[in-house]
Amino acid sequence: MDRPAVIQQTHDHVRLALEGEGTGHDWWHIERVRALALRIGAEEGADLFIVELGALLHDIADWKFHDDEHAGPRATREWLSSLNADQAVVDHVCDIVRGISFKGAGVATNMETLEGRVVQDADRLDALGAIGIARAFAYGGSKNRPLHDPDVVPTLHATFDAYRRDQGTTINHFYEKLLLLKDRMNTRVGKRLAEERHRYMEEYLERFFREWKGVE
Ligand code: ADP
Ligand code: NI
Repeated sequence: MDRPAVIQQTHDHVRLALEGEGTGHDWWHIERVRALALRIGAEEGADLFIVELGALLHDIADWKFHDDEHAGPRATREWLSSLNADQAVVDHVCDIVRGISFKGAGVATNMETLEGRVVQDADRLDALGAIGIARAFAYGGSKNRPLHDPDVVPTLHATFDAYRRDQGTTINHFYEKLLLLKDRMNTRVGKRLAEERHRYMEEYLERFFREWKGVE
């Protein structure tokens, strides 16, 4: 199968799997990450075939919903092997899917390849800014989490296990992950875009707390 066909088939497969999903990990998240990743990847001189496959498949079986951190790489391997993709391509894309996720404030999540760093930046940008705010509350709602509870303080998780088990509020998620992302971006464009989106979230939080107190 030629490369455009592999992309098209993968696109259709992921769209079918994630359409209508209600936690902010729906098809349109994938579509936004794909577009951002291709833009960043072009500037960075990355292999855009790998970048596009990584972006399309990165949330195909996320650990947050499968309770199994190996489900994503496994589903990716099965899918790409069924298309007879080259072994090197399969391995590379699986590595991206395995490594992409944030795993707690104190846990390093370095990506080994340029293509991995590009897809990770694109995924992280979609957790920031106006869209990031919308996704955080959509995810929190799907897990029955309160918006905010002033009696519960944020935790900077030292291990993936502690991060994974946390049941905290959505506002705390900003302090536990979202506001930390701008300093963990890999690429120049990624950093610049993250800074803008970060500022917007800080303004949003200030306003949230003013309204919470009934000041505004
Ligand atoms: P990652 O793989 O880094 O977790 P994803 O693409 O799976 O990235 O998306 C994570 C999205 O889920 C983000 O938009 C994030 O805000 C949301 N999310 C994850 N955990 C929580 C949480 N505990 N509370 C609110 N939102 C969350
Ligand atoms: Ni994602």
